[in-house]
Amino acid sequence: MERTFLMIKPDGVQRGLIGEIVKRFENKGMKLIAAKLIQPTLEQAKNHYIEHEGKPFFAEIVDFISSAPVFAMVWEGQDAITLARNLIGKTKAVDAMPGTIRGDFAARNPFNLIHGSDGPDSAQREIANFFEPHEFTSYDKDIQPWI
Ligand code: PPS
Repeated sequence: MERTFLMIKPDGVQRGLIGEIVKRFENKGMKLIAAKLIQPTLEQAKNHYIEHEGKPFFAEIVDFISSAPVFAMVWEGQDAITLARNLIGKTKAVDAMPGTIRGDFAARNPFNLIHGSDGPDSAQREIANFFEPHEFTSYDKDIQPWI
């Protein structure tokens, strides 16, 4: 089982897209194991994008995700990282295909609605940056063998 960190960014929260976006991961058969609406601190935002420190857009993306509430989530499932990235669509909103979250709802960066971990190491780091161990739930979904 793999875990991924997904975060509906301030534009997604402001536009009332939390339900629409969460529905897509539920429809895919992934399992939500932790979620909360929070406004990231500047330190959390910097930690989140630490691998991009020094890039020209670093300050912009840090300021953006710490500017207003985000909906932070941890999802679990086989190949959860790749499944989620495929549902999210390409990073640049203008390149994202229709049918993906960004392709259907986003028009330009940084307003690309949602972040998804790009690999197991970043998922682990990002999850630890936003969640404490006691915030996770553990439960079975009887439908899982059919997905
Ligand atoms: S890179 O340069 O390829 O490593 O960057 P990438 O992995 O594509 O993106 C890293 C995050 O930075 C955001 N990004 C941008 N924001 C604003 N303007 C520009 N030009 C830009 N380029 C990249 C991008 O959305 C990624 O953040 P997340 O939260 O994952 O969407």
